[in-house]
Amino acid sequence: MKDSSAPEKLPVHVGLIMDGNGRWAKKRRMPRSFGHNAGMNAMIKLAEHAQSLGVKYLTVYTLSTENLSRPKEELEALFGLFRSYFSKNVKKLYKQNAAVKIVGDLSPLPDDVVKLLKDGESGSPVGAEFTLIFAINYGSRPEILRAVNLAVERGEKVDEKSFGALLFTSGVPDPDLIIRTGGEIRLSNFLTYQAAYAELYFTDVLFPDFDGKEFDKAIADYAKRDRRFGKV
Ligand code: FPP
Repeated sequence: MKDSSAPEKLPVHVGLIMDGNGRWAKKRRMPRSFGHNAGMNAMIKLAEHAQSLGVKYLTVYTLSTENLSRPKEELEALFGLFRSYFSKNVKKLYKQNAAVKIVGDLSPLPDDVVKLLKDGESGSPVGAEFTLIFAINYGSRPEILRAVNLAVERGEKVDEKSFGALLFTSGVPDPDLIIRTGGEIRLSNFLTYQAAYAELYFTDVLFPDFDGKEFDKAIADYAKRDRRFGKV
């Protein structure tokens, strides 16, 4: 259900780089996995909030291709969160008329996790009003190279439309706004092709503390921007 207090100029698609879980945990003298767990809870609330505002797509950078080289213990903790989210929480999302989509190369992930992720996607309601997109083992460069190789294999010349259809994000409109928490000012291989005209918003807030109010600040900032798409 759309909240009647929603701002007028609302992004259709928001990308979210959820950075700062490790530092949030460190401040509390807790292991990094504690921060990721808090990050997951923050993400669940934010997805509900974004949907209530009328945002149509939220892409969350859950695991980058580079993150796959993190210590085994940390990766196992993240896979544990995927297991718990995709076997329990995802059903609540469906009930709220929201769908799940996965972007990224799932092949190096444990088989049971891949199955849960794929079931999460295929069990989604058709024609949902909101889609939560998980970028998992995702990186823009591998995504672009994969699309180029697919086009080469098919002997096809591509244009923007046909190339877009070869990306993991096929069928999803380009992000209007990308938010990065945790103080770094870069995109880190996240939706770089799709973000050609995205507005960027950076905040020092560590991801587990990034709540609905912080999200609203980003949306209000976005609403003030003059998006000319290269025109005058
Ligand atoms: C970056 O922060 C965050 C990640 C690599 C993982 C993000 C994952 C979640 C929020 C959990 C989501 C889980 C599900 C199932 C949706 P960092 O750890 O690099 O933080 P740091 O820069 O402070 O070390």
